[in-house]
Amino acid sequence: MSTDVVLCKVADIPDGTIKHFEIMGYDLAAIHVGGTFYGLDAACTYKWANLADGTIDSERMVLICSDCKGSWDLKTGQPVDPPAQFPLTVYEVATVGDDVILTFTY
Ligand code: FES
Repeated sequence: MSTDVVLCKVADIPDGTIKHFEIMGYDLAAIHVGGTFYGLDAACTYKWANLADGTIDSERMVLICSDCKGSWDLKTGQPVDPPAQFPLTVYEVATVGDDVILTFTY
C-alpha cells in the first residue's frame, strides 16, 4: 500500500540539504539537490546513526553518513562506499505548488 504525505514546503528544504521526517514510525530523509527532491530511509544499516544528519555529495549524488562515512546513491538507495552494505528504501518525492509530497509505501 502507499499513501501520499505532505512533508513540508519547498522552502523548508533548501538546495543541498537534508530534512528528517518520521512517518508511521519510520525515519525518513528528504533531500534537495538542484531542484529535485529525493526520499530515502534514514535508518542506519551499519550501526546506529540518523542518516538525515549526514551530508550530500551533489557531484556523486550520494548521501554520506556523518558517523561511518558510508554512502548511498540518492536515486537508487544502493550502497556506494563502505561500510554501507545494504540498500536503503527509496521513496518518490514530488513538488506540487509549494508542497513537498512523499509517496510512502508500506
Ligand atoms: S553509522 Fe550507520 S550508516 Fe553510518
